[in-house]
Amino acid sequence: MSVPGSERRLTVRHFRKGGGPYVCLTAYTAPVARLLDPHADLLLVGDSLGMVLYGLDTTVPVTLEMMIAHGAAVVRGSRRACVVIDMPFGSYQESPPQAFRNAARILAETGCAAVKLEGGVEMAETIRFLTARGVPVCGHIGLMPQAVHASGYRVQGRDAAEAAGVTADAHAVAAAGAFALVIEGTTRPLATAITRALPIPTIGIGAAPECDGQVLVSDDMLGLFTAFTPRFVKRYADLGAEVSRAAAAYAEDVRARRFPAAEHCFDGPPTG
Ligand code: KIV
Repeated sequence: MSVPGSERRLTVRHFRKGGGPYVCLTAYTAPVARLLDPHADLLLVGDSLGMVLYGLDTTVPVTLEMMIAHGAAVVRGSRRACVVIDMPFGSYQESPPQAFRNAARILAETGCAAVKLEGGVEMAETIRFLTARGVPVCGHIGLMPQAVHASGYRVQGRDAAEAAGVTADAHAVAAAGAFALVIEGTTRPLATAITRALPIPTIGIGAAPECDGQVLVSDDMLGLFTAFTPRFVKRYADLGAEVSRAAAAYAEDVRARRFPAAEHCFDGPPTG
């Protein structure tokens, strides 16, 4: 029986080929998750939080503890969206058992629906190991930020050999049992061809509108993270400017002794 007015949370089974376009956004905190939840099918607790929240230069130093703490907050702050949490660098590449141990912690300690990990052909065995043991996995191929020290941040698939490699990655991840696949930073024709060929939904970021869904780093589209804005990002708000304006107005009030306002102060007998 369902409780009137309550909505069931989406699971990975919601994401089927042909069922999109799926709306996906990153979220790292409970209050932002609460605001995004009614509009998103999937909330991704991305390891981009290392750069966006912690001011790190790359996602490489992000820890499992950071992902679990923020992931649990996003699950608490949301009711409807399917919450997926990134496995951070070093938490899954060593072996399938290492990946399972850490994925199990993420699922058990946060209540999320699935994990995401970067990698193609080389990660297929790990994805198969996880999915066979009850861990739903979202793949991530193309530009893989955790591999920045090896490959840099550059669009993938501009030449035929590279495009063939990314295509092989996509098929390997799907065949290994991933429920969806993030395609980041590839050419549009490549992402479109992969989307048409794959039996699982693709979620594009800097890839192609033809993907089965799109994901954006929320702080990019809200204008909160301005250190670097990728070319494909569309700014839907300028919250960074709003925060500056509000802080300046508060500072002015404090310096002029207008804060707190008289009507908001607590009454009591005069002292001194
Ligand atoms: O970490 C992240 O936010 C991501 C998205 C950019 C897909 O992986």
